[in-house]
Amino acid sequence: MKHYDSIAAIDDLPEWVSDARKLKANQRSLNFMGEGKTICLLFFNNSLRTRLSTQKAAMNLGMEVMVMNFGSEGWQLEFEEGVVMNQGKSEHIKEAAQVVSQFCDIVAIRAFASLTDKEKDEAEIVLNGFKKHTSIPVVNMESSVGHPLQALADAITINEQNVAKRPKVVLSWAPHPKALPHAVANSFVEMMQRQDADFVITHPEGYELKSEITKDVTIEYDQEKACLNADFIYVKNWSSYSDYGKVLNQNPDWMMTKKKLGNAKFMHCLPVRRNVVVEDAVLDSEQSLVIEQANNRTFAAQIVLKKILENL
Ligand code: CP
Repeated sequence: MKHYDSIAAIDDLPEWVSDARKLKANQRSLNFMGEGKTICLLFFNNSLRTRLSTQKAAMNLGMEVMVMNFGSEGWQLEFEEGVVMNQGKSEHIKEAAQVVSQFCDIVAIRAFASLTDKEKDEAEIVLNGFKKHTSIPVVNMESSVGHPLQALADAITINEQNVAKRPKVVLSWAPHPKALPHAVANSFVEMMQRQDADFVITHPEGYELKSEITKDVTIEYDQEKACLNADFIYVKNWSSYSDYGKVLNQNPDWMMTKKKLGNAKFMHCLPVRRNVVVEDAVLDSEQSLVIEQANNRTFAAQIVLKKILENL
């Protein structure tokens, strides 16, 4: 594997999950591996978990880490070819990506969807711009369409619960005052398609995710029915995909409650708005896995960086 840009980069999911759990049990066991290697984390958007867990993962492997809030501190980048750069953008991705690759051995990028231009978002201009113009591996720390580090942490979290039977997993949309991207939901859907699980997606009409991603996954528009007898309920808001980036529904009845959760474990990638997306009684209960999901971001990143370091 050169780049970790989507979960398609995972060649053997059970082995990666098992190896990540071994690293979790002995976090510094490979701290010689990244000696003399540097990772550069470039953030075009805010972060808490991704920033700290990827940094921690790299440090556990003995790497040096450089972090830059590119969105607020870097030059505004131009991504179009052949453009006359006489407007606001000061630097072209061609130079920026090559310069970054002189300073580090791996570059990790966070660049969210604009939610205003579907075509540009799906072209992944920032992530693919770096992939095209650097000579070094690129890690996706959440792009326009995917969040593969989160999905890997989610797979580790589900695996740790040691559910004896084939689990029922539900991805439930929830209300949110702002338009949010589809990346987390997309990668979770892709991850569940690689698991032996009874997987159901529930959302109001108009919130269908991209059909090329959901494929033949069952969609149940009745949330209570979808959640019945679930083992895991993963809650996430996303904006409309068909009416791209729009908030069509803020119906509070879609908030996750203790009643709807039943005996299931609750999952969310965080950050989460309490009593909008999910009620306190769920988040503060023993059924909530959200803190462990965040913890597992370190070991998802650590197994990804290990695989890349093995090929450097
Ligand atoms: N889940 C997640 O990616 O969190 P941050 O946005 O805080 O990095």
